[in-house]
Amino acid sequence: MIAIAIDGPSAAGKSTLAKRLAKELGYIYVDTGALYRAIGLHAVRQGVSPADAERVAALLPHVRLSVDYSPEGQRVLLNGEDVSQAIRSPEMGMAASAVSAHPAVRAFLLEQQRDMARHSNLVMDGRDIGTVVLPDAQYKIFLTATPEARTHRRMRDHQARGEQVDYESLLRDILKRDEQDTNRPIAPLRPAEDAVIIDSTHLTLDEVVKTIKALMGRA
Ligand code: DC
Repeated sequence: MIAIAIDGPSAAGKSTLAKRLAKELGYIYVDTGALYRAIGLHAVRQGVSPADAERVAALLPHVRLSVDYSPEGQRVLLNGEDVSQAIRSPEMGMAASAVSAHPAVRAFLLEQQRDMARHSNLVMDGRDIGTVVLPDAQYKIFLTATPEARTHRRMRDHQARGEQVDYESLLRDILKRDEQDTNRPIAPLRPAEDAVIIDSTHLTLDEVVKTIKALMGRA
């Protein structure tokens, strides 16, 4: 099986890139952030603070996550309910970042993510795919961009869905998530030693795709 790991900070364009590569290569695309978001959503719905390690851990035996794939992409089911839309809000991004710092949550999701890579060629995006989840992935990309460029891109995503969002508050969220994701003791956001770092601040999606396909000898 071939795995392409794409890691990097929030809103660096990982999912757009991963989707496009998966489509061109005929691989499946796995958005691992969605799994953390679903756990964050479950905690919030149960009235549990996503930052409360013990109470979040106590919820995990009651969480059944499954992922299915259609031509439209990945669907995430939380205890049988399709939460693919509900997990996309900025609040759920923050909740995901908070729950993702708990060792119990990371352990809960680790095997599920590895199992997917045993059965399919895939492009998997996240924060620790190249370092922890799939250290043997054939290709590892660390995609980054300045916080300002990432904020503009995230704003465009929200606007495309007809949602009103404020630049300053999005930038604040992105900086806070960078800080939390980079400084947590377990599986912090950082490039794997053998990752290729791509700064996409001044690159188009096509240029990034071209760079990666050249790396794979598929240019
Ligand atoms: O990629 P995203 O914005 O959907 O991710 C939401 C949060 O989940 C992110 O702030 C950190 C966490 N996350 C993680 O810790 N490890 C991953 N592999 C993916 C996401």
